[in-house]
Amino acid sequence: MDSVSVVQKQRCCLIQILILNRICNKKMPLGERGGDKTESRYCGIETDFNDDMPHVLDFNLSSAGFDFVIAPLMDPVYRPSLVQKESLGSAVLPFAGSDLVLSPSQWSSHVVGKISSWIDLDSEDETLRIDSETALKQEISWASHLSLQACLLPTPKGTTCANYARCVNQILQGLSNMQLWLRIPVEKNDDDSTDANSDTLVDSWEMWNSFRLLCEHHSQLCVALDILSSLPSENSLSRWFGESVRASIINTHSFLTNARGYPCLSKRHQKLVTRFFNHSIQIIISGNSVHPKTSVVANVSHNHSVSDSQRHPLRPYLDYVGYLYQKMDPLPEQERFELGYRDFLQAPLQPLMDNLEAQTYETFEKDAMKYIQYQRAVCKALLDRVPDEEASVKTTVLMVVGAGRGPLVRASLQAAEETGRKLKVYAVEKNPNAIVTLHALIKLEGWEDIVTIVSSDMRSWNAPEKADILVSELLGSFGDNELSPECLDGAERFLKKDGISIPSSYTSFLQPVTSAKLYNDVKAHKDLAHFETAYVVKIHNAARLAPSQPVFTFTHPRLDRESNERYKKMHFVIPNDTGSAIVHGFAGYFDATLYKDVHLGIEPSTATPNMFSWFAIFFPLRSPIYVGPGSTLEVNFWRCCGPKKVWYEWCVTSPTPSPIHNTNGRSYWVGL
Ligand SMILES: C[S@@+](CC[C@H](N)C(=O)[O-])C[C@H]1O[C@@H](n2cnc3c(N)ncnc32)[C@H](O)[C@@H]1O
Repeated sequence: MDSVSVVQKQRCCLIQILILNRICNKKMPLGERGGDKTESRYCGIETDFNDDMPHVLDFNLSSAGFDFVIAPLMDPVYRPSLVQKESLGSAVLPFAGSDLVLSPSQWSSHVVGKISSWIDLDSEDETLRIDSETALKQEISWASHLSLQACLLPTPKGTTCANYARCVNQILQGLSNMQLWLRIPVEKNDDDSTDANSDTLVDSWEMWNSFRLLCEHHSQLCVALDILSSLPSENSLSRWFGESVRASIINTHSFLTNARGYPCLSKRHQKLVTRFFNHSIQIIISGNSVHPKTSVVANVSHNHSVSDSQRHPLRPYLDYVGYLYQKMDPLPEQERFELGYRDFLQAPLQPLMDNLEAQTYETFEKDAMKYIQYQRAVCKALLDRVPDEEASVKTTVLMVVGAGRGPLVRASLQAAEETGRKLKVYAVEKNPNAIVTLHALIKLEGWEDIVTIVSSDMRSWNAPEKADILVSELLGSFGDNELSPECLDGAERFLKKDGISIPSSYTSFLQPVTSAKLYNDVKAHKDLAHFETAYVVKIHNAARLAPSQPVFTFTHPRLDRESNERYKKMHFVIPNDTGSAIVHGFAGYFDATLYKDVHLGIEPSTATPNMFSWFAIFFPLRSPIYVGPGSTLEVNFWRCCGPKKVWYEWCVTSPTPSPIHNTNGRSYWVGL
């Protein structure tokens, strides 16, 4: 791990991260949602060209309550070839006013530049093509001069976009912080709705994919989705949540009319907009007012004191979007706490090789659900082990191996009390710092007669007697990645032949994901090692492309001496209605059976509720893999063991082979 610098090693969330609001520092967001400080609180409006920018802002922001405008920067009648011929290049470019008409913060907080929609860099018409390139470069240069945070690029006109992408890619190389949002309509006709006579399957995702591949997945190239009145399937829409979508533009024609004549959205559109809010995607209203009541006084929830004549025709659309925003449930406390960790890559803990810090133990100890599950498991094991009639005479020997600062000791003693069973506990811990806390705890609680503290590595400890029950929590996000199998191999020497291990088994799970954000964050390190490393991460902006599948299972106690090496080949089928997609890597999870029906885990379909000790794990791919609709992704995973370390290797073998990642654990390994 030393070769890879990420951040502090984590299993979950430990550091508070500030989220920077990139767009708009304005006072009137869509509403207040407890804890939500993401950009989706802000709503924009697409405007026509107007060289009176102060008026544009006053009318759309101050009067109507929008947060920002998407405004053309250049007069749409302008064509470079015409101007240059007439003025020999000395003409003033027809921009929407001088930079001084707005303050720098108004430009950067309230204006997204809209690049002229006439540009067509792949046109057969050479004059148009050259004009387009010139205008694009002039407008982006002006937007950079104004320090705009983003520019909206028009949708590619034809089926090919190589020249457009080349020009954008050139611009991206020299761009400071500005983002370029490529406008893409959300369009995909489903297979079964395809006209038998039509040989073209429309899927606008393909257009985006070509463009971003040509631009080498540049992190400042993002998407603005045009939401039309009909929507493709859920699976197809879900793909976009793994892409770098920054905005969704809803045309007034995509709104329905409610019984009172006001604009509203279909149930599916509402659900989609709520998902956009949850993924920090800003809504932008575009088009003319097409609803009967839009000229009438609208909802006054924003409390503007403007006369009716000043009312903005699109205000009812904004009010409706605000209503959808405010209708969302408040973020649960845990989600609120975890907001800053969304899609933030962290290096996994190595509790065997490293000594955990007090702060890390403290985070674990706050996770009540984890210890409740352990207590339930110990209760069941005690009841199975000691019948009622022997409860007062038989003492169960329970060993907590890897006791940390003692929460599992406490959970075990509480289980003994709950079941009325007698217990003798050994708390085995190799971290000398945690031993200090354990001693203090035992003294404070008066457990000296019941609990013996052992400062030792469980693999080398010579136990004075054998245990009935062995309790441990050495599980990583991927189950065995904190080396529970290797540690318990050493500890099971002192478990009675018929003894119980809690956990009794654990399985890792894997699922292919699209996550442009994670891919770009790994890529930003510009080396191979970071692409061959697993990360702990609260995966949020991702598309999960197929259900997860089990990978490796370990069962305890292990009667045989089977190896801890493993190999698994998996086949993930991409649903037909998803369309094509890009796989950036794999999300990993675990599920553990503590005892009988008591389980603990983070695999999404069976995850233990309200538990926050573990985020998922992410295994990246060096080059994203394209998968077609209905295709099968063949994935290989290995768990490899050496005398000093354990590591994973992984690769894709179909539809296109990837290199085998992390050969010999050269980039990422877990120390024994
Ligand atoms: C994930 S922490 C769990 C701590 C505690 N049981 C809890 O639930 O909060 C794992 C603990 O096991 C300890 N540990 C890991 N490997 C060990 C080994 N081989 N022998 C003894 N302790 C070990 C670590 O130092 C750490 O305190």
